[in-house]
Amino acid sequence: MSLDWRPPTLETERLILRPVTEDDATGVFLYASNPNLTRFTLFETHQTIEESFWFVKTYAHSRYASNEPDPLGIVIKSDPVGLIVGALGAHWVSQPNGTMEMGYSIGEPFWGRGYIPEAARALIDYLFANYAVERLQARVFVGNDSSDRVLKKLGFTKEGVLRSVVFRRGAWLDLSMWSLLRFEWQLRATSTV
Ligand SMILES: CC(C)(COP(=O)(O)OP(=O)(O)OC[C@H]1O[C@@H](n2cnc3c(N)ncnc32)[C@H](O)[C@@H]1OP(=O)(O)O)[C@@H](O)C(=O)NCCC(=O)NCCS
Repeated sequence: MSLDWRPPTLETERLILRPVTEDDATGVFLYASNPNLTRFTLFETHQTIEESFWFVKTYAHSRYASNEPDPLGIVIKSDPVGLIVGALGAHWVSQPNGTMEMGYSIGEPFWGRGYIPEAARALIDYLFANYAVERLQARVFVGNDSSDRVLKKLGFTKEGVLRSVVFRRGAWLDLSMWSLLRFEWQLRATSTV
């Protein structure tokens, strides 16, 4: 852990991706309290603003203290209020083995506008430029077709399905495992120039 390290602020054409603060609890609660959004997330629907505070304070601080860019709040540049409307990030699964895992969510009113692929491209560029990461993985509940589409657009490969790996809401659920390797991202970068 480095005392100098600060989570990055990244900019894309339409978005700012920035570290969260306690002031972002309201923005998080607005999207994370929606059960349509949490239908396929690994986190549960936020029932109270305290759960959103825990995310922007306790969870975020512990990740930032380990130099992990997770979460970065998503702000839409054209929004005059500047509330975060979603978040994405990546953290180490195994640092010795160069494996990080990426996660993302954006509020329901913003689905289908390509915001998460746009944000993820900036995050992935940042990760491969700044970390000794070889493999970036993502786990997606089977049935979350929108998230599958995002990962396909980003060039991830679906490796297979982890069967009955999560017990949630009274059922054993399957997760798809996806990955993107450093050389694959570099090839994509050079092939689109
Ligand atoms: C999954 C999610 C991250 C996708 O982000 P996004 O910014 O909407 O991504 P895109 O705009 O590229 O849309 C992805 C796909 O969603 C589907 N989609 C588009 N509009 C939609 C809508 N209004 N409602 C539901 N799905 C929609 C389409 O299949 C689209 O693929 P296409 O572009 O090939 O048509 C977002 O829907 C979300 O936050 N969902 C809830 C949280 C979640 O499931 N997180 C991922 C956990 S692994």
